[in-house]
Amino acid sequence: SAIYRAGVFGHRPTVPVEPAALEAAARKAMSPRAWSYVNGSAGQQRTDRANTEAFYDHRIVPRMLVDVEERDLSVDLFGTTLPAPVLLAPIGVLEMAHREAEHAVARAARALGLAMIHSTQASVPMEQVAAALGPNPHWYQLYWSRDDELAASLVARAEECGAQALVVTLDTHLLGWRTRDLDLAHLPFAQGQGIAQYTSDSRFAAMTRERANTPRTERDPRPTPAAVRSVLSQVRRYPGDVRTNLRSGLPRAAVETFLDTFSRSTLTWKDLEWLRSRTSLPIVLKGLQHPDDARLAIEHGVDGIVVSNHGGRQIDGAIASLDALPPIVDVVDGRVPVLFDSGIRSGADVFKALALGADSVLVGRPWVYGLALAGADGAQAVLEHILAELDLTMGLAGVRSISEITRDTLSPVE
Ligand code: FNR
Repeated sequence: SAIYRAGVFGHRPTVPVEPAALEAAARKAMSPRAWSYVNGSAGQQRTDRANTEAFYDHRIVPRMLVDVEERDLSVDLFGTTLPAPVLLAPIGVLEMAHREAEHAVARAARALGLAMIHSTQASVPMEQVAAALGPNPHWYQLYWSRDDELAASLVARAEECGAQALVVTLDTHLLGWRTRDLDLAHLPFAQGQGIAQYTSDSRFAAMTRERANTPRTERDPRPTPAAVRSVLSQVRRYPGDVRTNLRSGLPRAAVETFLDTFSRSTLTWKDLEWLRSRTSLPIVLKGLQHPDDARLAIEHGVDGIVVSNHGGRQIDGAIASLDALPPIVDVVDGRVPVLFDSGIRSGADVFKALALGADSVLVGRPWVYGLALAGADGAQAVLEHILAELDLTMGLAGVRSISEITRDTLSPVE
């Protein structure tokens, strides 16, 4: 209510409160290339649209005359009590949004006590982020990699950093058909240390040395003078956007390294045993949409599931993530936590996902927009707006705690 009162009494919010206005402001602040990477999704953007539109199909039915003066947003996940059922989704290459990247995000997460999920594609090595987070809860997101030993090295580092769970993202073993990125591929990406996360890894360094000893192909062409001029002009136009590294700042570097290192389409359910043998952390599979996959996940002993379609960035015309949630919740039947992401833009959206059975949600793009607009303060403001609206929605709906947000709080969907 502090945020609401401040707003009512003439205080200008750090970033726009209305989701559409937040998006519009972020679009203006970011370079076309960075905007297309962050906001864009696969193909004709139909899955991304479906993700947000699916929330219109569910309506909250409020109850009156319930004493909701005291409201508790906390949840327990993997032995830790979190202040709210909202986690920061793993987002890679954040330096495109703001030069402080994960340093800023860690400050925002810590200010609110929200759990941050650190991406394999992060711009800042996880040790630095963990130090900035201090006692704040954090999880590590793993892209498995073509090289098991690289995966093992990343997992060992995450354990060492105090990560409380391992989120294994399964839906990105190939990169989706990102039409907007493809159309802008000629523009400079102007990324800095976009992938410091694994380039800082000793196993990755060894792989790079091995590769250096093999004959050079088209990899790493030198930037042409025109490319350098183009990068510089982008940096002048969008000063908040990135710390440009002209040597490694070629458009293709981050994507190419991702494809070379992490595309691994041979993975199957059997491989989970190997991962299980390498870590004692809870293993959470991210990217499930089919109830049969949820059943298989449980059979293979995983500790949690994130129902997600990667914000619609992988398959165009796929099922809306929210529509995939209830069947998975039914199959899982309370045996492991079910988390949800893809399409959450507001506190009311969080409420609906919880009502459909999610134990917690991950928020992706909205706080990245805040980060792009105002660094740590911007990311924090966006998350505060979502939490404030969730809290108000609970109160207005007649709900005191997260466990009271059940399917009965929604009108039946035909
Ligand atoms: C992502 N996402 C993602 N997921 C992941 O497991 N590892 C990663 O490195 C990334 N990187 C990434 C970058 C960008 C720019 C976006 C927008 C998304 C997916 C992310 O974790 C999450 O699933 C979606 O963002 C959720 O959808 P919304 O909330 O953005 O609609």
